[in-house]
Amino acid sequence: MSKPKVFVSRVIPDAGLDLVKEACDADIWPDRLPPSYEILVERVRGVDGILSVLTERIDANLMDAAGPQLKVISQMAVGYDNIEVAAAKARGIPVGNTPGVLTEATADLAFSLLLAGARRIVEGSNYIREGKWETWEPKTLLGADVTGATLGVIGFGRIGKAFAKRASGFDMHILAYSPSLTAEDAKNAGAIAVDMDTLLRESDFVSVHTPLNANTRHLINKERLAKMKPTALLINTARGGVVDQKALYEALKNGVIGGAALDVTDPEPLPLDDPLLTLPNVTILPHIGSATINTRNRMASMAAANLIAGVRGEALPNRVV
Ligand code: DGY
Repeated sequence: MSKPKVFVSRVIPDAGLDLVKEACDADIWPDRLPPSYEILVERVRGVDGILSVLTERIDANLMDAAGPQLKVISQMAVGYDNIEVAAAKARGIPVGNTPGVLTEATADLAFSLLLAGARRIVEGSNYIREGKWETWEPKTLLGADVTGATLGVIGFGRIGKAFAKRASGFDMHILAYSPSLTAEDAKNAGAIAVDMDTLLRESDFVSVHTPLNANTRHLINKERLAKMKPTALLINTARGGVVDQKALYEALKNGVIGGAALDVTDPEPLPLDDPLLTLPNVTILPHIGSATINTRNRMASMAAANLIAGVRGEALPNRVV
């Protein structure tokens, strides 16, 4: 019997790729850079399943180009804002993702960013490379205290809670906001549920952990940045689009807030001439929240399991719609 045909949009770790190759007739995009949308549309024609990563736009047009035999879209990520899930739902195509396995790695990176921003780690490292380290100085590269400071977590799901757990080890006072967060749920995770304005006003550090959707696009905008402390540090490991980046640049340049530490930007990659890169009080990483060997292996095998179940017409172990 012939194997189901699938398109895999990048060379994912062997932990997943081997499973896909064994179960499917797989067309695997071999390049480091993603296929263009036009090429993607061509390559998915006639496939039973698509395994995507977050750089691929998977929209209604692409689903129709693939054809009516398309049985599953499996995303190797927890976030799926690159996929038009309503279009998939309307066509009866299940969409899978990889929740849970990247929670700890992402929370670790978010906390690294908090520490890096507070203690000016990247600036300090650059200071040496730029030949500025001439002596020990009483007032150079002074940062902010983390221990005992107030942390605001926006989006108190799996990753937000794991991040708060790390903060509690630093005796931080933790405020949390999610639209449906109850006082009890927050308390169980060592936090206090507050409204967004209170969180912005009282926090020394504000960290964003929401998915990107129509409700959260530019959630952190000019008005909300203005409510933050002038010394506050904004951390974003969720999606770049949750923050209005132009407003963020203005806020950082004009001292409305103290700094930003970002693992995600809008767009990605961030163009080298982006004004954010001219500011010393910004730390930027290339979207590596889940980038540990074990985590990426787990994500790959989970995405493979969703893909294989989908092409076989079975229930996806982790289904979004
Ligand atoms: C995700 O899973 O959504 C991350 O952004 C990439 O691992």
